[in-house]
Amino acid sequence: MEALATTPAMRRAGIIEQYRDWLPVTDATPVITLLEGSTPLIPAPALARAIDPKLKVYLKYEGLNPTGSFKDRGMTMAISKACEAGAKAVICASTGNTAASAAAYSARAGIQCAVLLPKGEVALGKVSQSLMHGAKVIAIDGNFDDALRLVREITDEYPIELVNSLNPYRIEGQKSGAFEICDVLGEPPDFHCIPVGNAGNITAYWKGYNEYFQAGVTQRLPKMLGYQAAGSAPIYYGHPIAEPDTIATAIRIGNPASWKKAEAARDDSGGMIDIVTDDEILEAYTMLASLEGVFCEPASAASVAGLYKTAKSGYFTEPATCVCILTGHGLKDPTRAVAVAPQLIDLPPDKGRILETLGISA
Ligand code: F0G
Repeated sequence: MEALATTPAMRRAGIIEQYRDWLPVTDATPVITLLEGSTPLIPAPALARAIDPKLKVYLKYEGLNPTGSFKDRGMTMAISKACEAGAKAVICASTGNTAASAAAYSARAGIQCAVLLPKGEVALGKVSQSLMHGAKVIAIDGNFDDALRLVREITDEYPIELVNSLNPYRIEGQKSGAFEICDVLGEPPDFHCIPVGNAGNITAYWKGYNEYFQAGVTQRLPKMLGYQAAGSAPIYYGHPIAEPDTIATAIRIGNPASWKKAEAARDDSGGMIDIVTDDEILEAYTMLASLEGVFCEPASAASVAGLYKTAKSGYFTEPATCVCILTGHGLKDPTRAVAVAPQLIDLPPDKGRILETLGISA
């Protein structure tokens, strides 16, 4: 890559170069990267004041990854390892973000990509990405769980690589998020708040925190607080949900692939998996944008909605550090944003009317 005049702080290496020693790669692994990772851990003091002034709240803004979600951390690994193994094609089921990421990294690697989406249930920005990157985009008349079952069957029978989080390299890449948080804070947070859908990401973060702990890089572990949308909460209820429903389409999942691992993260960390309603998600989504200037997609706001709910229940008895993972960018789902935000004001090009509307008097 062409050398750019950057300061070390400006340099983004991509997670494979950044954490090479912690990842199952060798010199023979072609590194397919868009320089993902190194996302900011943004202090959120206004949110903390609104939620519980005892808490120090940070937002891990994963929407600033190259395709706008945390999936890029896992996809750089999955596509690099697929290429190392000589794969010519990959496939995934997706609520949209995995697909967008798989499509982009496949384009960069020069391999074929196919994605199966639940028809009518994927946010516009995500569909546009998969299409633009040249993936074969198939919308099925079914939900995410149906799509995942189909791609598992297809990859069992045909030589095409599965790049859902069942692919262990996805988890390996995504654990880098935990490393980054510890590298910035010096230790893990006391509480790690995260949306839970197919449950790969909570699994990955827990793995990352444990690896740093076991290597002696950190001296303790966080409590994992996972949040499912109330209408799509199989882990919380303890049984699959046949027809999951929520406005947070990214986590509209009724039978998560990493169910048992998410339970292990919850139980081994002494944390919990709780539910948040769509109204609670939308309140947090709006608060993030208006109080902190951070725009995430609705599913991401589940982490903050959950922290809010948990704080209100009196769970936090002493000062604590909480990191909320904001998994995807707000621009992924512009339709939801304009539906819940204040309305546009239509005016003629008339200075008087504009000043009047702004409440500015001469
Ligand atoms: N937040 C966003 C924005 C997501 O896209 C997803 C999952 C999650 C949270 C939940 O993460 O599945 O690891 O528990 N999206 C997947 C997809 C299912 O297809 O893009 P998880």
